Amino acid sequence: MRQTLAFDVYGTLIDTQGIAATLEGWMGDRAPVLARAWREKQLEYTFRRGLMGAYADFDTCTEQALRYCCEALGVALEAEQEAELLRRYRELPAFADAGPSLDELHAEGLRLFAFSNGTAETVSGLLRNAGLEDRFEDLVSVDEIGCFKPDPRVYRHFLQRANALPRQAWLVSGNPFDVIGAQAAGMRTVWLDRARQGLFDPWGKEPTATIGGLDELSGALR
Ligand code: 2OP
Repeated sequence: MRQTLAFDVYGTLIDTQGIAATLEGWMGDRAPVLARAWREKQLEYTFRRGLMGAYADFDTCTEQALRYCCEALGVALEAEQEAELLRRYRELPAFADAGPSLDELHAEGLRLFAFSNGTAETVSGLLRNAGLEDRFEDLVSVDEIGCFKPDPRVYRHFLQRANALPRQAWLVSGNPFDVIGAQAAGMRTVWLDRARQGLFDPWGKEPTATIGGLDELSGALR
């Protein structure tokens, strides 16, 4: 039975901290702080919108999170700078190990899917820009059902769209909340611990496998 791999996008294949390079020219060494705060607030908005049943797409969460973080950190952006940042966020770089690892897994005959909180339009643009789009059989966006990870419905939706059984489907993610969500839905999981710090939520459930880079993924699936 062919195994199915669902790749989380932001933070797994695509480096959200890559936006710091754009910010650096405008705010120097505060750039990584804003980049990190922006990502955290973006995710917080998805969680809160999920709890409230008040879905707004990921692009909206991203934009509103940027506005909040700039206000909180006392960063005044011109309208053109904000537009430029949001445009660059659609062109974030891939991690260097993403392309070669996807090639290897593709050659091994595994079914590869991109599976993201991002809208199909934004994520396909992001993957195209990073040269990764053609590695995937399909892209599954939570936007299709209007709720965010780690709502159990999004993992069920993925399995349905990929026509895969939970035990033959793996979620590969750098986001522990995503790993725990997929595991609760019966999927197998690979946690990509790029920081190699082993900092995982102590909820009593470990990922099926843990890797420090995507180059270790093929070996971890055996
Ligand atoms: C993604 O779905 C959660 O950001 C993550 O791509």
